[in-house]
Amino acid sequence: MGWALQDIPWERFDPTCVRPELVSIAKAACLVEHNGGDYGAYLRSVFHDDPQFCAVAQVWSEEETKHGEALRRWSEMADPTFDFATAFRRFRERIRLPVDADRSVRGSRCSELIARCVVEVGTSSYYSALRDSAEEPVFREICRRIASDEFRHYKMFYDTLRRYREHERPVLLRRLWVAVQRLIEAEDDELAYAFYCANAVTQPYRRSTYKKAHGRLAFAHYRPRHVELGVAMMLKAIGIKPQSWYGRLIGNSLSRIIGLRDAMA
Ligand SMILES: [Fe+2]
Ligand SMILES: [Fe+2]
Repeated sequence: MGWALQDIPWERFDPTCVRPELVSIAKAACLVEHNGGDYGAYLRSVFHDDPQFCAVAQVWSEEETKHGEALRRWSEMADPTFDFATAFRRFRERIRLPVDADRSVRGSRCSELIARCVVEVGTSSYYSALRDSAEEPVFREICRRIASDEFRHYKMFYDTLRRYREHERPVLLRRLWVAVQRLIEAEDDELAYAFYCANAVTQPYRRSTYKKAHGRLAFAHYRPRHVELGVAMMLKAIGIKPQSWYGRLIGNSLSRIIGLRDAMA
């Protein structure tokens, strides 16, 4: 299982199919994914007495970093002026994770795992949307492979969440709150600042400006099927049956939150 950078058919790169807006968001994604090592260290610290999870979290973080490497290589082919080292250094100066935290910043392990599921819902739907809309063949192939990994990551966090749910049993409102909070955060500083750093903007950083700039380019690729699948996966992580009356109600609300982000972008 797994793939390596050499499995990507780089020789099929077609510069005539490269759209500049896609390069801008690929460069931003490459910085965020490259930070996977820190996320892995944070998770291993929070789950320090769970060797089973620590082992899969290590593999997970290596895969996230590999996503960053593939996107970096493609971005450098599409935009030879892209200075990854400088962009990543600027990004890291601001975006720092508590890698030695001994408990989750979300308050509990279940909450941490729900938040991780929401992030993987976001990445799996994002790369699926990019895969379905991109014309450049190498980028499509990279997004296809990354999207497939992100769906698998979701399953890994979801399976771990089920294991922890037997002990922690967080109430529905708490589970819902964590998911909604993480969903809203998803477009916060990290992506906006990555977009700012990756595109070598010389103006002072303003979060709202770059959040909108990134969101406008990223959300343009989503189709209803990407949102519908993402909402169903999110409901599953919260522990709500999508077909129940409250599942449909909450599902519609989650779709509206995503739609609102789209409209605000
Ligand atoms: Fe990833
Ligand atoms: Fe992932």
